[in-house]
Amino acid sequence: RPRVLSGIQPTAGSFHLGNYLGAIRQWVALQETHDAFYCVVDLHAITVEQDPKVLRQNTRTSAAQLLALGIDPDSATLFVQSHVPEHAQLGWVLQCLTGFGEASRMTQFKDKSARQEAQVGVGLFTYPILQAADILLYNAHHVPVGEDQRQHLELTRDLAQRFNTRYGKTFRLPEAYIVKDTAKIYDLQDPTAKMSKSVPTGVVELLEDVKRSAKKIRSAVTDTGREITYDPEHKPGVSNLLVIYSALSGRTVEDLVADYDGKGYGDLKKDLGEVFTEFVTPVQEKVATYLADPAELDKVLAKGAERAREVAGKTLARAYDKVGFLPSG
Ligand code: TYM
Repeated sequence: RPRVLSGIQPTAGSFHLGNYLGAIRQWVALQETHDAFYCVVDLHAITVEQDPKVLRQNTRTSAAQLLALGIDPDSATLFVQSHVPEHAQLGWVLQCLTGFGEASRMTQFKDKSARQEAQVGVGLFTYPILQAADILLYNAHHVPVGEDQRQHLELTRDLAQRFNTRYGKTFRLPEAYIVKDTAKIYDLQDPTAKMSKSVPTGVVELLEDVKRSAKKIRSAVTDTGREITYDPEHKPGVSNLLVIYSALSGRTVEDLVADYDGKGYGDLKKDLGEVFTEFVTPVQEKVATYLADPAELDKVLAKGAERAREVAGKTLARAYDKVGFLPSG
């Protein structure tokens, strides 16, 4: 079976619709056909300041959401990044292979550091290199992510190639797995910006009160026209809603456009609010069930970490040997 790996930050507690449609939905599908590794990346989370209690809670909440959204711990290996020390260890080796200029070109770092008021830490700068370690440790064939991660995937391939050239073939060059239709879900209040936890205006969160989500959807920015058509360039707001609607309902955008012929934006938004509510209500119930038994949840994660370490440990040992580190016994 080909292998996939992906990760998600626990930073915000609740995931949002962009996370689900851009990434997690694909994770769920790929666990059927691939040897899948999915991790909650708490090491990445501390690149910006975290309250320790909140981080711990958010990590559990993230794992609970992944399970509730359909990740099956018997088919996929679900784990917490900090439970597998090899991530940080390989990250260091890869940092030593990364050019300062190369890391400086990462647009996510530029965006995040520009937005941040607190002092920008070095960890935020080296963030994508740790991400490369996450991926390369598992020799993943594919990495299911949203469009915003494409540049980090390119860096990962470059580092894998560089390591292989310098020390001999060790890592597989991974491919980004980005589903075009849902690669970038836009903010409901600013449909030219990606839906994001860091600029939360029109962000639909999976764990918020469904009434609140429905209201956000009803007040989504559309445009001055009246016709419901899919035209991302001229009608980004309506097009974004159609993409979300289509993904959640399993109906094609064309089918929806035909169905809403002659109806108004209000109808579309009201119906989408209902579709979302129907989707998310059982998810919220499952999350609550998982969180009610944190010991059981921790057990699932411990088992995942054990499986992950079997793979990661072997890859790290090979990489350390290639680099010229003395065997430890
Ligand atoms: P993160 O936690 O910001 O987001 C998790 C996933 O959600 C996708 N995503 C979106 N997709 C479509 N539209 C949006 N508006 C949207 N917002 C977020 C992201 O592309 C991502 O796939 N660096 C990663 C975490 C990471 C990782 C990894 C990913 C760490 N190590 C190894 C893959 C492989 C991140 O910050 O994702």
